[in-house]
Amino acid sequence: MERHIRYSDKDNALVLLDQRYLPTREDDFYCRNTQDIIYALQTMVVRGAPAIGVTAAYGCVLAAMEVAAEADWKTALAHKLEEIAEARPTAVNLRWGVERMKKLWAGNSGLDNAALVALWLAEARVVHREDIEINRRMGAHGATVISDGDTIMTHCNAGALATAGYGTALGVVRGAIDAGRKGITVIANETRPFLQGARLTAYELKEDDIPVTVACDNACGLLMRRGMVQKVVVGADRVAANGDAVNKIGTYSVALLAREHGVPFYVAAPLSTIDRNMPDGDSTPIEDRTPREVTHVGETQITPDGVPVYNFAFDATPSELIAGIITEVGVLRAPYKESIAKAFKEAGIE
Ligand code: MRU
Repeated sequence: MERHIRYSDKDNALVLLDQRYLPTREDDFYCRNTQDIIYALQTMVVRGAPAIGVTAAYGCVLAAMEVAAEADWKTALAHKLEEIAEARPTAVNLRWGVERMKKLWAGNSGLDNAALVALWLAEARVVHREDIEINRRMGAHGATVISDGDTIMTHCNAGALATAGYGTALGVVRGAIDAGRKGITVIANETRPFLQGARLTAYELKEDDIPVTVACDNACGLLMRRGMVQKVVVGADRVAANGDAVNKIGTYSVALLAREHGVPFYVAAPLSTIDRNMPDGDSTPIEDRTPREVTHVGETQITPDGVPVYNFAFDATPSELIAGIITEVGVLRAPYKESIAKAFKEAGIE
């Protein structure tokens, strides 16, 4: 599935499949300026770390168009880029996308506004295309840890919808099937409160005819104890320099249960999600979202008026619980500090 993020030259707009309403409605959301991009990111019209990175890249293009008529358009643009980078705090790909565009601008600082827009639009298209290719490579590497007959548990949605296409964790599932593994099935944890697993993972796997069963988040222990899970594969919003992986709230609990039951727990993440400046998972900023996502299901209130709730959107899984980090350059193993540094060196990234 690749139709969920597309740039329309006709409308000068980024067109997003609105993930708030899936699977029951397939509405498009048009981003025509910076405010639309920030709104789409914050309300999760688009979500998932790599998809956020691609959106940020196109967001820079829209921001540049928006300031074209201003006398000091460069200062205005720098301000807007920072606003985009700060729209959500946890997924490092958001800032990564903006920084990539800024670096390109710095190397071409003499361009006028129209030329910068053209350069950035071409670059955003590269970022978009590259992400799909990276996910496919990740899927091929990930296939090596998957066996015939495996039931793979995943948490949240780290699929095509969370990327430009193919997916990270679900890319591993797709990669295993593409590599000829037989009898692969998926358990999608429903992932309260935004229900990315129940709504989005189930939606896109069903669309691809990949067998998927949705389970309540709190069924995880029972399913593992009954031997119904052979592998766990999740995505990540940020992987720290020591290999700790920050992902959707509840991932840490799944990893602990996996260790207790001897189920290998893998993280699938591109190198753009690895933040070598972040020493460990506990140092990573954790997004604290609106209480309404917890107090309501749709329009229905499910908690008494005035009772406070926690709505931390992510947690950190310590690297010692991770059997391997599946990247586009191979499956990294502990000790992660060393294997991460080696992977960047081999990929030629400073
Ligand atoms: O809040 P979300 O839906 O943006 O969180 C997404 C996740 O936690 C994903 O697992 C992660 O971004 C990896 S996506 C390939």
